[in-house]
Amino acid sequence: MTHTIFQPWRLGRAELANRVVMAPMTRNRADVRGVLPASAVTYYEQRAGAGLIISEATQPSAAGQGYPGTPGIHDDAQQEVWAQVADAVHARGGRIFCQLMHTGRISHESLLPPGVPVVAPSAVRADLEVETLDGAKVPAPMPKELTVEEIRQTIEDFAAAARRAVDAGMDGVELHGANGYLLHQFLSPGTNRRTDAYGGTPGNRARFVVELVQAVAERIGADRVGLRISPGGQFNDMADKDNDDTYLALVEALQAVRPAYLHTLRRRSSRLHEQVRDLWPTTYIMNTGYLGSSELDDLEPILAGGQADLVSVGRLFIANPDLLERWRHDHPRAAWDEDTFYTGGDRGYIDYPAIGTHKEN
Ligand SMILES: Cc1cc2nc3c(=O)[nH]c(=O)nc-3n(C[C@H](O)[C@H](O)[C@H](O)COP(=O)(O)O)c2cc1C
Repeated sequence: MTHTIFQPWRLGRAELANRVVMAPMTRNRADVRGVLPASAVTYYEQRAGAGLIISEATQPSAAGQGYPGTPGIHDDAQQEVWAQVADAVHARGGRIFCQLMHTGRISHESLLPPGVPVVAPSAVRADLEVETLDGAKVPAPMPKELTVEEIRQTIEDFAAAARRAVDAGMDGVELHGANGYLLHQFLSPGTNRRTDAYGGTPGNRARFVVELVQAVAERIGADRVGLRISPGGQFNDMADKDNDDTYLALVEALQAVRPAYLHTLRRRSSRLHEQVRDLWPTTYIMNTGYLGSSELDDLEPILAGGQADLVSVGRLFIANPDLLERWRHDHPRAAWDEDTFYTGGDRGYIDYPAIGTHKEN
């Protein structure tokens, strides 16, 4: 039987060798300047068998950082390592998009340049603990409401970072609109209490994300821009239920822009996901990891049945750099070690072996 999952796919201007996307995963290995270590080149190169890699979340500006050890793509030193990553992935026939994340209220002053506040659409504090630069856990701060001028600057920061990603040779960018970070904070009525053009109605709550996608598309081409969303997602103290109208307004506004793809985190099956799939004009990527499993037998029917064009896989790729080969030859999959997801260093990062490097083979 020929699996759909191993078939090629055209995504914007990129030819993908198969339908499997490595999901974006934060690994906290960058230094205090937001520069990735050389081992990151190895890490991504090892996983280039995915049709597309979406990088770990990367801040488009120093003001957008929310965790220690996340990389940036807003200066030359950061861009240089991303260029090496892109070259290494391309040399193995892979493709890579850079996920751009501004964390909004999920941050701490110690991670930001002096005098730069933690910001959000509205002054609504997240009821959780955030990490400081030293790794201490403290209550999330009360964010400062962004002014319209600051919203424009934030959009410009994203567009400039997208330009750098493409200049570094990456195939495009994914705007992180999921999991309770800045874009999601605009979309959700619980975190967006604005009464200006950026809040109050579904169309207004969607406006920031729409303007952001448009601005980045103008800078690098719509066919190099993806968007990730998590409708209904509760992560990071979000209450995003009963907000379907905002997502429908978002998708309708983006129909004319035609970004390269929409990447949805599906935590539970819902009518909204079907509506969004039907309305979306280009490639549709689904991640079902937190709902069920990201194993071959679960993903193949999603593709074969047309529920999505591509599927994304996270944790299995951490532990199985050669996941596609293992699936093709039905070789056992290695288990991931959660304890080394976010710790620095090479352990749990570039030391998971590929099948061919096992002694018994
Ligand atoms: C270690 C780790 C880091 C993650 N970091 C990100 C991230 O930076 N951006 C993002 O959109 N999702 C992030 N996620 C969510 C994954 O992209 C994915 O949706 C999730 O792991 C579920 O898929 P899976 O079951 O295949 O792992 C992360 C998940 C893990 C396990």
